Amino acid sequence: MYRYSTILGIESSCDDTSAAVWQNGKILANETAGQPVHEAWGGVVPELASRAHQSHILPVIQHALNRAGIGLEQLDAIACTQGPGLMGSLMVGWNTAKGLALALQKPLIGVHHLQAHVAALHLEHEVKFPLLTLLVSGGHTQLLWIPEPGRMQIVGESQDDAAGEAFDKAAKLLNLGYPGGPHIDRLASGGDPKAFSFPDSQTPDLGFSFSGIKTSLLYFLREAQKENPQFAQDRLADICASYQGQVVSSLLKRVKKAIQLYQPASMGLVGGVSANSELRRRFTELGISKQIQVCIPSFTYCTDNAAMIAQAGSMQLEQGESTPLSALPFAR
Ligand code: KG4
Ligand code: ZN
Repeated sequence: MYRYSTILGIESSCDDTSAAVWQNGKILANETAGQPVHEAWGGVVPELASRAHQSHILPVIQHALNRAGIGLEQLDAIACTQGPGLMGSLMVGWNTAKGLALALQKPLIGVHHLQAHVAALHLEHEVKFPLLTLLVSGGHTQLLWIPEPGRMQIVGESQDDAAGEAFDKAAKLLNLGYPGGPHIDRLASGGDPKAFSFPDSQTPDLGFSFSGIKTSLLYFLREAQKENPQFAQDRLADICASYQGQVVSSLLKRVKKAIQLYQPASMGLVGGVSANSELRRRFTELGISKQIQVCIPSFTYCTDNAAMIAQAGSMQLEQGESTPLSALPFAR
């Protein structure tokens, strides 16, 4: 039985303000306010992000508590993203969490954002160990080896761009808006993934690299548009499908290698890019073909959310961890 039965989770590391209420292993509420203000800029503008968090944070927390039917006095602990992320964004959530912990005289628990993405696996699955996890977000691409709960080792990571950046930068080249991943995913569903070919990067061991494929798309478009200036518009779905297919192949090639090396009992897929439908489909197929348990969180728990923060917080509290109120957020 959980000692800390009711936890408020808070996430504000980038451009989503989110609050969740976790009780005895269940999510009672998970409320998120996005920030469409960044779309016009083609990326997250830090100053605008902190301002938007400032106006969203209290209403979002109140919303989550109302939806859960939980009063502040019922909370046993406050879990909040401590880092990494944008400093101005982190500070809004962190200071709110500190204020609540101080006023309620309850423990504060600082959560590492990437560990929380991994903790999201436990929200809906009885995860078997040892676990191999592919973490793919806007800032990170990592293969994590988790032999038992609480022990984690990075066994592969990107040498340059993250998988999310590969999607976002391609979307920018194609004038699709920010964040680009969901646009490419949607358009790719109507295209032919074999229409064009983009090169996979050559990396040693379990390393990833995505700067090459983005550059190859740039040159490919330049060349094709010399003959037909409308090329990108005319063949948008095929370009998206082919590009997405190569990014997914590049990710899965390393996952396959890691399965051979580590022989996991289950494989997890987490982080914002795990919302990608092609990646989810082919990752699941791979797990089935290798007879390994596949754990992929539902869409709401893939992109940044506070439910995963509360879940990670509960696991840390179970280990007896809490964070002093003097602790600062960290950007890296
Ligand atoms: O984990 P996340 O929400 O924020 C970070 O911590 O970075 O990940 C955001 C990233 C963005 O790069 C976004 O384009 C990507 O996740 N993303 C997707 C999809 N949905 C979000 N990429 C591909 N396909 C999607 N459906
Ligand atoms: Zn994230």
